[in-house]
Amino acid sequence: MIDTKVFKNVMARIPTAVAVITSRSDSGFHGVTVSSFGSLSLDPPLAYVSILKEINSHDRLLNADGFVINVLAREHTFFAEQFSGQTPLADPDFGGVPHKIGQMGLPLIDGCVSWIECRHWEQHAAGDHTLFIGEIVNIQAGESDDPLVYFDREFLELSW
Ligand SMILES: Cc1cc2nc3c(=O)[nH]c(=O)nc-3n(C[C@H](O)[C@H](O)[C@H](O)COP(=O)(O)O)c2cc1C
Repeated sequence: MIDTKVFKNVMARIPTAVAVITSRSDSGFHGVTVSSFGSLSLDPPLAYVSILKEINSHDRLLNADGFVINVLAREHTFFAEQFSGQTPLADPDFGGVPHKIGQMGLPLIDGCVSWIECRHWEQHAAGDHTLFIGEIVNIQAGESDDPLVYFDREFLELSW
């Protein structure tokens, strides 16, 4: 039997990048902070994000056409907090979030390390999460080489 507390503590000690997943539903643009995302396949080009079934973002993502993985830079700590519900959420037109609109009509947050625009490909139930697999329709690197890192429940920077 796996102890929940030990599970969480061990997983928290895997250093990860941080992204905001942007999508759109009837109520406007939406963003959610994640660390469980990544590359899945080159041919076809696929990426994934794992979302807890019980959070609001889950059904919004299910009802969207696709999503963007905005890989955050260190200067984006505020947005990482904002889109994880720790501070008030951005308005549905993303007025307070500097961005441009990408190929899928979804927000690309300014200053990111990279942007991965995905159309929904498949979804798989994975315990209390759903694995959202996206077919990559556009992918680009940003100018920042200063990614935001999450380790032991803290936002950190890479030290070169
Ligand atoms: C650094 C960080 C990483 C997170 N990674 C994930 C993740 O990979 N999947 C997930 O479902 N939630 C993740 N969360 C939690 C969600 O951001 C949070 O539950 C969500 O914003 C709740 O809001 P909602 O109910 O409006 O969707 C993460 C939070 C933080 C701060």
